[in-house]
Amino acid sequence: MSTILLAGGAGYIGSHTAVELINSGYDVVVADNYSNSCPEAVKRVEEITGKSVKTYEVDIKDTEKLETVFIENKIDAVIHFAGLKAVGESVEKPVLYYRNNIDTTLALLECMNKYSVKNMIFSSSATVYGEENPVPYTEQMKRGTCTNPYGWTKVMMEQILEDAAKADKELSVVLLRYFNPIGAHESGKIGEDPQGIPNNLMPYVAQVAVGRREKLTIFGKDYDTPDGTCRRDYIHVVDLAKGHVKAIDYILKNNGVEIFNLGTGTPYSVTEIVDTFEKATGVKINHVYGDRRAGDLPESYANADKALAVLGWKTEKTLEDMCKDTWNWQSNNPNGYKK
Ligand code: NAD
Ligand code: UFG
Repeated sequence: MSTILLAGGAGYIGSHTAVELINSGYDVVVADNYSNSCPEAVKRVEEITGKSVKTYEVDIKDTEKLETVFIENKIDAVIHFAGLKAVGESVEKPVLYYRNNIDTTLALLECMNKYSVKNMIFSSSATVYGEENPVPYTEQMKRGTCTNPYGWTKVMMEQILEDAAKADKELSVVLLRYFNPIGAHESGKIGEDPQGIPNNLMPYVAQVAVGRREKLTIFGKDYDTPDGTCRRDYIHVVDLAKGHVKAIDYILKNNGVEIFNLGTGTPYSVTEIVDTFEKATGVKINHVYGDRRAGDLPESYANADKALAVLGWKTEKTLEDMCKDTWNWQSNNPNGYKK
């Protein structure tokens, strides 16, 4: 049985991926400093799967402490989720973002090299397509110009990983470019639990629904899109997690560097999200229209053909599922993981 190290595995996408990997017969080890998560998320993973999960509280930038994880476990592959991800905060604190996101990547690569771990899957983002590329995005497009330091960290980390794989022919790298993950596990036990005021649309909608926020502001209604609001490729986090299982199956058998978009290929507008959430849950979302948010692109969506062709992966869940599962999580856990 192969063992997968989930760096940042207590977070939103990492916890859902842990469930799917365990259900597919993999052993997982979680390393996280809980800077944007909590140990309770891992406990919930254990409840869902009925398996215990070996967990390390470690700052992944700290190469020495990270080494313990590699010494104590025979790791077959690493999935690197450990990053800071708030776009606005990255504009205010660029050095924090560059330090955390780049250093976690370098520390993981150093340990992998030292302990001969040759498979790395990286949580990248559609943001690397930047402003220049037309939608739908395909993997062979050149990385573009980002509008914020968070995006640049993803561009830089992709480059670092490609260079490392070029230098070490045994090192395999899969770059997974996520589109907009939303939703939650159908059990309602794990989900997205942002700290403070949510930056992203769906957690904000969910907090309005549960009464934690008064109203949603829709950022801009004068875009060149069918209804004037921005369109995104929202993907159910469980579909996304299953994409990681397929990527692990793949990387354990193949060598080299590959890039995959993980999206549905179908964009929805902000207004459509609000309407679908209301229909799927029966809960009204109080909302107003406001100014555009700096840095937002009118549209972002994937061409998801490559993941289907190479990994045999495609999304299965609908937008209605995404809304229902978000609400199931939020209504069962109005304050997230806090009791
Ligand atoms: P998250 O914040 O829920 O998870 C990230 C985890 O990494 C957290 O548990 C956090 O505590 C941990 N972490 C951060 N820095 C660390 C460090 N130095 N040492 C140890 N642990 C550390 O975010 P998520 O939504 O699960 O995203 C996971 C990855 O996917 C991130 O790299 C993010 O940039 C990327 N991504 C996310 C989205 C999205 O919309 N959620 C979109 C594209 C890409
Ligand atoms: N939006 C609102 N009101 C809100 C929050 C968001 O109208 O309160 C709108 C945004 O303007 C945008 C859409 O909802 O049009 C989606 O916004 P999100 O913040 O949920 O998602 P983004 O597409 O802006 O960002 C996401 C990830 C980033 C990643 C980016 C590109 O959060 O990490 O996709 O991949 F960089």
